[in-house]
Amino acid sequence: MHKTISNMSTLLPRIGIVNGGGDCPGLNTVMDAIVRSLHPEYEIFGFYKSFEGLKDHHYVKLDPSFTSRYRFMGGTFLKSTTHGVFAGKVGAGGLRLVDDEIIAETKKSYDDLGLQCLIVLGGDGTMVTACQLQAAGINVIGVPKSIDNDLDGTEVTFGFQTAVDIATEALDRLETTAYSHDRVMILEVMGRDAGWIGLHSGVAGGANVILIPEIESDFEKVAHFLRHRDKKNALIVASEGARIKNMGQIISGSTTSSEQKLGGVGDALADYLNQFEEFEARSTTLGHIQRGGKPSGFDRLLSAQFGYQAAKMVEQKTYGQMVVYNCSSFVSQPIEACVAKLKTVDPNGYLVSSAKKMGIHFGD
Ligand code: F6P
Repeated sequence: MHKTISNMSTLLPRIGIVNGGGDCPGLNTVMDAIVRSLHPEYEIFGFYKSFEGLKDHHYVKLDPSFTSRYRFMGGTFLKSTTHGVFAGKVGAGGLRLVDDEIIAETKKSYDDLGLQCLIVLGGDGTMVTACQLQAAGINVIGVPKSIDNDLDGTEVTFGFQTAVDIATEALDRLETTAYSHDRVMILEVMGRDAGWIGLHSGVAGGANVILIPEIESDFEKVAHFLRHRDKKNALIVASEGARIKNMGQIISGSTTSSEQKLGGVGDALADYLNQFEEFEARSTTLGHIQRGGKPSGFDRLLSAQFGYQAAKMVEQKTYGQMVVYNCSSFVSQPIEACVAKLKTVDPNGYLVSSAKKMGIHFGD
């Protein structure tokens, strides 16, 4: 006999899904994979606007016919926020704990809804809040989201490769105009404290100079390097959080989230170079173009596997852990261990060393 979800609902185990922080290509893919892997044995609640939706009972019931409509779309059908009472980050990379009363209210809502566990898709700020909820008695399963790829414990987060592909495509486009005009073209990419997007896209896109937060750079040294090349045209990638000698990280005027907004290093470098007659520099800021739009093929595959693994963890009741991808395998790690520190680029690691050997300058 055919049974509808609603008349089965009292018998079904219930789980919730939330996503927190900045949006990222692949969020909808992960959620669709979770739902398809668990349906129809589970009743699945998608909470809107991060943990706010759980606290305030603002949700949508998810099934494959709903989630498959969004599967490869960018953004998140659950919407998200980087500020509010659950903002897990504050200031320049600082982590913030959520007030105890808010955590208690959220736990009450979780209990009232009779949830078995909560799958949390997020970066380091969201995972810090997830740890607090876990400590308060909510069974949490994490899935690592970040275009910045700065979440520790996993080799890669979903959304990162899409951002790298977009930045690489931007560099390809800047290269032809740099050549035509004998100009220095600077591309400013995202990356507050971790230069993964800058490093990967810079190498993939043929940059001559890469500036990342992990290596303090000096504009004078960049100019010196450019002067001694045999070509006038050059490509530079600068992470928004690049640390510049005598300037530090450049904070842009406006603050739109709980974190201080960084940006302007590309313009600052262009202004510096344009003081000298031999350079004609232009800067382009890629901004949220890196975060918008559909996930790449790689990220679709990764996101689907992350979602499937999260569903397996629901069935196995593996709580307090985050799905991670390491050495070609999907396994899990305690969420607490994944937020203990940010995963940043090793200035002496393989990628930087090989890039240096191949003639890429890091401004140091
Ligand atoms: O954490 C991801 C990220 O894209 C950072 O690289 C960037 O600094 C920040 O989000 C931008 O945040 P917002 O969308 O709030 O401006």
